[in-house]
Amino acid sequence: MSNLISIENLVKTFYGAGEPLSILENLKMSVQRGTKVVILGESGCGKSTLLNIIGGLEEPTSGIVHVGDYNIGNLNENELTEYRSKYLGLVFQFHYLLKDFTALENVMLPMYMTGVSKKKALSRARQLLCDVGLESRLSHLPAQMSGGERQRVAVARALINDPELVLADEPTGNLDPKHGANISDILFNVVEKYGKTLVMVTHDISLASRGDVSYKIQGGQLVSYES
Ligand SMILES: Nc1ncnc2c1ncn2[C@@H]1O[C@H](COP(=O)(O)OP(=O)(O)OP(=O)(O)O)[C@@H](O)[C@H]1O
Ligand SMILES: [Mg+2]
Repeated sequence: MSNLISIENLVKTFYGAGEPLSILENLKMSVQRGTKVVILGESGCGKSTLLNIIGGLEEPTSGIVHVGDYNIGNLNENELTEYRSKYLGLVFQFHYLLKDFTALENVMLPMYMTGVSKKKALSRARQLLCDVGLESRLSHLPAQMSGGERQRVAVARALINDPELVLADEPTGNLDPKHGANISDILFNVVEKYGKTLVMVTHDISLASRGDVSYKIQGGQLVSYES
């Protein structure tokens, strides 16, 4: 198996009004293709920062971040957009669904926008919504769905362009524990079904055992998580 993510000497420091804030300090990480990685750690330790750097949403202060064929630190805006659309599916704590579009439309749009035929995009979107258990909610608008259902739509949408890598930042954060556990299961199941690589950050220590590997961020470094 080959590495999908290789990170060496990653440093992230925030420079603001006061003292510089050193969040990631020479962090090293490698993730093999097809692995499900869970990252835990206290609030403020840098989980979202790390995920955002891998997703090309935030720039590293220094260090090397490779994802597949891309060296993330060296990309211009066009290359970053290409990288994101080619490699990434993103799931956040908030669903960011378009409120005037149905579940089916929300899921199919990112694929349709790459120039694929409407028929093909709809057919894949339908399949993914079935995968997340929403076959009976295809025509619902976001406002007509529960919080958990909206997150399931977001999971289906993250997979629509067949990304190699799914990044999930607290996808269960806004839900009660029962529905949160359900979303995590659905996320792990679809990622498994399609053989994708997952990096998920969460507060929920019960998810540590769901990953193939689990880490925590401590003192700016990635260390093995022992439950
Ligand atoms: N743009 C920014 N400017 C300054 N400081 C920032 C910025 N973004 C994040 N930080 C700081 O960096 C630290 C890490 O933030 P991050 O969002 O990565 O934490 P986290 O581990 O995801 O926390 P949580 O579990 O609460 O989501 C925090 O202390 C935060 O205040
Ligand atoms: Mg966070």
